[in-house]
Amino acid sequence: MDNASDHYARTDAGDAMADRILAALRAANGDAPVTPKALEPLDHFNARGAAATAMLATLLDAHPGEEVLDIGSGIGGPARWIAVRHGCRVTGVDITPAFCAAARKLNVACGLMKQVTIIDGDATALPLPDKSFDRAYSHGVIMSIAEKSKFFREAFRVLKPGGRLVLFQHNAGPNGPPDFPLPWASSAEHSFLAPDGETRRDLVAAGFEVQSFVDVIPVAPTTDSNVNGWDAGQCDSPFLRNGGDGDDDRDHPVGSGGG
Ligand SMILES: C[S@@+](CC[C@H](N)C(=O)[O-])C[C@H]1O[C@@H](n2cnc3c(N)ncnc32)[C@H](O)[C@@H]1O
Repeated sequence: MDNASDHYARTDAGDAMADRILAALRAANGDAPVTPKALEPLDHFNARGAAATAMLATLLDAHPGEEVLDIGSGIGGPARWIAVRHGCRVTGVDITPAFCAAARKLNVACGLMKQVTIIDGDATALPLPDKSFDRAYSHGVIMSIAEKSKFFREAFRVLKPGGRLVLFQHNAGPNGPPDFPLPWASSAEHSFLAPDGETRRDLVAAGFEVQSFVDVIPVAPTTDSNVNGWDAGQCDSPFLRNGGDGDDDRDHPVGSGGG
């Protein structure tokens, strides 16, 4: 196993993955429509599921008609969820081809082919033009990326001036290295947890202004996705980050908390 793509999808083809998800949904819901809400227990592929996506979406604060980028989009659960709830267009990029294929098939099942686009690609070399997105987010991805400064530089490059970046990730804690396997890595060789200070430094070096840096562990529900009213101001240390408006290129990504 040599990279995140191998870790996440060694044996499964994307079509088969999507078919199994759709079969599970039919078993639970019968012929009810396939929607991002119905898929919610199955397609948010991160530690806290749709509850975390709802928190991230509150900080992202996307508006109808905006272009939003999902970096490391997995099988597309958060992308579809945010596209439908916020009326924006979402482009997802992911390094695991099987996940991209599954995401496309689930987009079709939801009738969201025009609103959600999935592209095969690496977060450290995004196959996207400069200044093309109003907002960007990454959910449960950065722990797999060794070259984090490249990740942040690329996110900055593709955001329009004044754009916003929101990250939801695990960082290194005070108690030493974690035990393996973990959901994102089977061994220490493939896990890249950054201390908070390093994340802040990387973000600022890429040009971002950090607006909030939130530890959601004390406050976040892990199973209830009905957290749209979640208040980003209620907690105040690591984990969720966004940054600030800028009036020049250096400041461009990340928003002031208000869109
Ligand atoms: C835990 S999953 C999260 C998926 C999605 N964000 C979600 O929350 O449902 C991590 C994802 O990051 C992707 N990933 C890891 N390294 C990547 C890279 N360098 N570029 C793009 N995607 C990457 C993996 O393929 C996987 O889909």
